[in-house]
Amino acid sequence: MDAHYLWLVVLVLAAVAYLTRRRWEPWLAGRGIDVRSIPWRWYLLGYPATVIRMRLTWRQTCLLNDLSISPRGNRGVLGGLVVQGSALRQIPPRLGLPRPTRGGLVVRIGLHAGQTPSPFYRAVDALAHAWAVYGVRVSSPERGYVVLTVTARDPLAGAATEETERAQPPRLLVARVGRLESGGGWLIDFRMVAHWLVVGATRSGKSTWLGALLVALAGQPVALVGIDCKGGLELSPWLPRLSALAINRKQARSLLDALATELDKRMAVCRIAGVRNIWELSDDERPVPLVLVVDEIAELYLSDGSREARDEVTACSVLLLRLAQLGAALGLHLVVAGQRFGAELGPGVTALRAQLSGRIAHRVNDPTTAEMALGDMAPDAVDAAQMITEHEQGVAITTIGGRWLRARSHMVTTDEARAIAAQHADLRPDFPALVSATAEGIEAE
Ligand SMILES: Nc1ncnc2c1ncn2[C@@H]1O[C@H](COP(=O)(O)OP(=O)(O)O)[C@@H](O)[C@H]1O
Ligand SMILES: [Mg+2]
Repeated sequence: MDAHYLWLVVLVLAAVAYLTRRRWEPWLAGRGIDVRSIPWRWYLLGYPATVIRMRLTWRQTCLLNDLSISPRGNRGVLGGLVVQGSALRQIPPRLGLPRPTRGGLVVRIGLHAGQTPSPFYRAVDALAHAWAVYGVRVSSPERGYVVLTVTARDPLAGAATEETERAQPPRLLVARVGRLESGGGWLIDFRMVAHWLVVGATRSGKSTWLGALLVALAGQPVALVGIDCKGGLELSPWLPRLSALAINRKQARSLLDALATELDKRMAVCRIAGVRNIWELSDDERPVPLVLVVDEIAELYLSDGSREARDEVTACSVLLLRLAQLGAALGLHLVVAGQRFGAELGPGVTALRAQLSGRIAHRVNDPTTAEMALGDMAPDAVDAAQMITEHEQGVAITTIGGRWLRARSHMVTTDEARAIAAQHADLRPDFPALVSATAEGIEAE
């Protein structure tokens, strides 16, 4: 039997399963699997239709996009001359058995000897059109093969607000902020990537992203600290859950100072215990993790040219860099959001950016911002960030595990933020030193 018709068997089995679902749904639900969240339409109709379309168009698409080879080479002898051209008989590479995923499929293609994956990278648009799918992504994890990851429909269309999607992941310092185009949850794991940089034009969704992050962290035993130098407009709804909030540069400076002192204390604790980071401490010795959220970072670097302002900017910049360098081991995590984050902002920005290894780029106005955020990691992600439209607020490109993905954050309204902050206010760890640092900032004004 042709392996490609295996799906027929799958289809029959799936239909039987669907018709008898009342019998086994409760059984699965008891094991934590929600049957209604399974995309049946895709598995039963979309997937087989796409496989047929792939099979029917494969030869032609390969021929038109130079994915086929001719076994006899492209040269021939014509009347005593060697001429170069396209051979009549061409053989397309071998299309493997497509494996369905929740929102698309994955197929492996065997290359001919002498072929490289590069023509496949160029042919992704042609393949997506030929197969009537949303997108095709090429990778080559294994020599001699390319793997095509096909996404059937834009999984990020429509805001992600469903309660089930927001279910808290169980682990500390892992936040579910939205969903990925691959269908899974968009998880920010601070234990894997300590610090994050979020860029995007105005109204592209940066602050909402921070809100989604705070929603996810609010229920965890984590101290949340904010710096929002646009007068606290974005972060003030979170006040009940924040251990401290700085709303201008003066406050920010003393807050950063207090955080640096806190890190020094933690360093001493680790040194005395003879461990290299707070995670090696015993549970009762371990200090609570801190997440410092900075919105509109550029405000921190803007100065009116006065000496005092310049000193403040330099102090903030040096402190931020120090917190980033020591934070990963001592349980302080930085999340920095801004429209741009380039060297033109001021001294130390490039060094700080290098420390913020998690990157998220919303819609950007200029290629340099996208390059700054994503370019050093994935050149093609830069194009993808520039293709996000104004209508796709909350959509962003992020790098995960060395590759890039499109993702969309959960929509969080101000009212929701206020409600969730109040609901979890009792989880707020008290840091008197941080509070008095921002209060001193207010008095000094
Ligand atoms: N994930 C999202 N889903 C749907 N709409 C969003 C999302 N993120 C942002 N928006 C919309 O975009 C608007 C601007 O977002 P905001 O986070 O304030 O942008 P920024 O901070 O980048 O200026 C929000 O008021 C909201 O209407
Ligand atoms: Mg904003």
